[in-house]
Order: sequence, then C-alpha cells, then structure tokens
Amino acid sequence: MKTTVTTFQEMKEKGEKISMLTAYDYSTAKLIDEAGINSILVGDSLGNVMLGYKDTIPVTMEDMIHHGAAVARGAKEALVVIDMPFMSYQVSVQDAVINAGRLMKEGGAGAVKLEGGEQVAEQIKAIVNASIPVMGHVGLTPQSINAFGGFKVQGKTEETAKKLIRDAKAVEEAGAFAVVLECVPAQLAEIVTKELKIPTIGIGAGAGCDGQILVYQDMLGMYSDMTPKFVKRFAEVGKMMKEAFAEYDKEVKAGTYPAKEHGFAIKDEVLERLY
Ligand code: KIV
Repeated sequence: MKTTVTTFQEMKEKGEKISMLTAYDYSTAKLIDEAGINSILVGDSLGNVMLGYKDTIPVTMEDMIHHGAAVARGAKEALVVIDMPFMSYQVSVQDAVINAGRLMKEGGAGAVKLEGGEQVAEQIKAIVNASIPVMGHVGLTPQSINAFGGFKVQGKTEETAKKLIRDAKAVEEAGAFAVVLECVPAQLAEIVTKELKIPTIGIGAGAGCDGQILVYQDMLGMYSDMTPKFVKRFAEVGKMMKEAFAEYDKEVKAGTYPAKEHGFAIKDEVLERLY
C-alpha cells in the first residue's frame, strides 16, 4: 500500500516505527521500495555521495529535480520526499513555494524537506498552504555547516537544547507532517518525540525517535570520505563492488570474459556468404 503523510501520522499513533533511507536513482529506489522501506528521501546529501562535493552547499534545484524524478519512477509504495537545496527557500517565502512546487511537479515528490526551525516557519506554512506536504529538519542541519563551524552534535547545552525544542515545535506548528532530528543527544530526541504530535525521524538521535533514516551508501559501506559515529554498516557492498570490478578487470585482460554463452550466434550459411 502506498505510504502517505497520513500513514506517517497513523504509524506514530500506533507506536509503529517508520523506516526511511535516501536514494538518488531509479534502480536503488526500486530496491529500497521492494524491501518495504516506508519512505525514500532524495537528500541533498547527493552533493556528497553522488556528486563528490565536500558539502551540500553547491547542490542545485536542477540536481534535485533530475535525481528526484528518477527515484519517483522507481518508488511504487514508498513516500518520496525531496530535499529543498541551499538557497531555494531561505531568501523568500515566494521562492520557497515556487521551488517546492517544482520539486512536486517536475521531480515527482510526494513531500519536500527543508532545514531549520523558527526561522523557516513562514516558508513551511506557505508551502503547506499550497498543498505540498513538508518534512522539517532540525539539529545538525548540513546546509548551515559554515555557520556551525563543522559537523557537530547539536543541543548539548541547556540553551541549545531549549532552542532545539522550540525549533521542532515551530516546525510542527507551521504544519509540517514530520521532522528529522539530526545529531542530537538521544535523551533530548526522546523529549522532542514525546512533546510533538508529528513523527520524529532520527539520524544520530537514538532509538527513541518515531523513525530512522540513513544515507544508503553509509549503511552499505559504499562511501568512505566520512563515516559518522551513528552509522551501522548493514552490509559491505563497497567491498563487494571493488572485488567484482577487480575480477571483471582480470577476466577481460585474460580473455575469459565474455565466454561463448555471453555472445550471439549467426547461422553458418549466412556467415559463409560473407566471404
Ligand atoms: O540530505 C540528506 O540525506 C538528509 C538526511 C541525512 C536526513 O538530509
């Protein structure tokens, strides 16, 4: 059955955990969807894991639409959420609505995600008023990496913990259907999860959240530039890929691939007429 924003709410109310993974292409989205994952995020983390940037700052609307549309074609059941990239919503409410609309119309999003709390509440309200569901994202918000001075756990002091609670509440009050909590202490994430009516989706925020999300290359061991502490490797796909690539290289060079069964035949009488 197709997961919708209503499913998210029902799952929180029933105490069922919500599973999310990122994807950026058709084939991966199809595999994730067929595995029964509830929702796929086309994260702007594609800047790191797909495009090789050091952070998410250079990611464009065109990048998100291009990858989002591929994911939407592969996801039959999972709710597809597409990230709003840096500077697509910060400057004005009007920009935010126009760009969220593009992600839905051109990218096939079922919902959009944007980073920030109180400071983006007006944008969230306006996007939701345009009938586009919004997922919030508070705590470590990678688009603010230059303001944070690096990838750091957020909400560790009384002041920053209170600010994080205010931000999460502002996102809920603005009409978001869920909120990502990234890199926050587990006990704080639990408090936020209890205080909010909408589901919380954790990444580096402990088991007390209503759901979890990971970047798929991280959980499959396919991205080695950075390995955050919260990542669990569920498989060593990166290692398997490297071994398979090396084996292919060996067989091509030895002339053992392709073998006869990998080729196509032509009838002898046709062949004879060629000489
Ligand atoms: O861009 C992304 O992949 C994200 C998740 C890590 C939450 O925002």
